[in-house]
Amino acid sequence: MSAAVFSFPTPTLFGAGALSELPERLKKLRVERPLVVTDSGLLRTPAFDSLARVLGGTARDKTWFVYSGVRANPVENDVRGAAAQYQEASCDGVIALGGGSPLDVGKAARLLVKRPDYKLERFYDESDWSGLAPFVAIPTTAGTGSEVGRSSVITLDSTKRKAVLFHPELLARLVILDPELTLGLPPKLTAATGADALTHCIESFTCPAFHPMCDGIALEGIHLIVDALPRAYRNGNDVDARGKMLVAAAMGAVAFQKDLGVVHSLAHPLSTICQMHHGLANALCLVAGMRFCAARQPGLYRRVGIACGLDLNQVKAAEADEATIGFIAKFLADLGLQARLREHGVTEEHLEALVAQAFDDPCHKTNAVPVARADLRQLYLEVL
Ligand SMILES: [Fe+2]
Repeated sequence: MSAAVFSFPTPTLFGAGALSELPERLKKLRVERPLVVTDSGLLRTPAFDSLARVLGGTARDKTWFVYSGVRANPVENDVRGAAAQYQEASCDGVIALGGGSPLDVGKAARLLVKRPDYKLERFYDESDWSGLAPFVAIPTTAGTGSEVGRSSVITLDSTKRKAVLFHPELLARLVILDPELTLGLPPKLTAATGADALTHCIESFTCPAFHPMCDGIALEGIHLIVDALPRAYRNGNDVDARGKMLVAAAMGAVAFQKDLGVVHSLAHPLSTICQMHHGLANALCLVAGMRFCAARQPGLYRRVGIACGLDLNQVKAAEADEATIGFIAKFLADLGLQARLREHGVTEEHLEALVAQAFDDPCHKTNAVPVARADLRQLYLEVL
């Protein structure tokens, strides 16, 4: 029996203007009537205009269609709406444009196209899902890395909780990373989404599974983010920085096929219960989570610090952790991400529900060190 499975299969086009290759690529995928899945806010952005230009056609001879009903935290209805529109317009492929939400909905809608009566909550199965509609993912933020993932996060009607639908067939057939599409992202969102990517890289590198390929990708992702995120934050039109952030975000998501950790378990309930942006929630919990892990496994962050550019080869384990955590704390503060949870509407009254959901969340089970319910409570209190 094999000890591990390594998988990096997504073809990715990268570069300023890469979007212009889309028509040619659609032909190769035999897609003639794509459905574009996005959200209503994106319809009014230059990124959508660019996509519309590249797809071409006039209102009369329209050969592509749009579903723009995706919510910030997508629910089952968003997926059903996209699948219904796909059927109505006799589409033959899906292009998702946007942040993590449109990408997740675009991915999952193909399931319902194939089996319209399928209950999404049952979709953690091993049945044959081959032959799903071809899927092209075009991110307009650099954070979740959903474009290279084989999962889709949808809030279920039955439980009102986020469910992770997972299947290798959900993977995109093509990812286009075009930094020109992210130029318009405001500084706050640039910082928050970038902090999500940074957290993916740090948590995946430090979780204990054996996956040296993901480890290498995570460390280079950290290196790219430390260089590029402050530049993209200060100057949104820095194409080089935007490009490096897009790649780093995809790398973070490739790396976290290894696993994630306690910071994501703290962050998920902050979004479902307090509606906090996922990247912001990670940013506000990251330093406390790192301190918690380093106290129990000294030296855990030495190589993270070296990837950040710190000279930590010769120092003692605890000193290496302290320097790395101090660096990350200042890095986030310089991006305006140093607030307490309280400043974003979280109160003591939320605490019990937050702890309960965080404890149910699977991410902390793969954390570098074991996490108890009381630890989660303590961690929330530290950042409250
Ligand atoms: Fe994340």
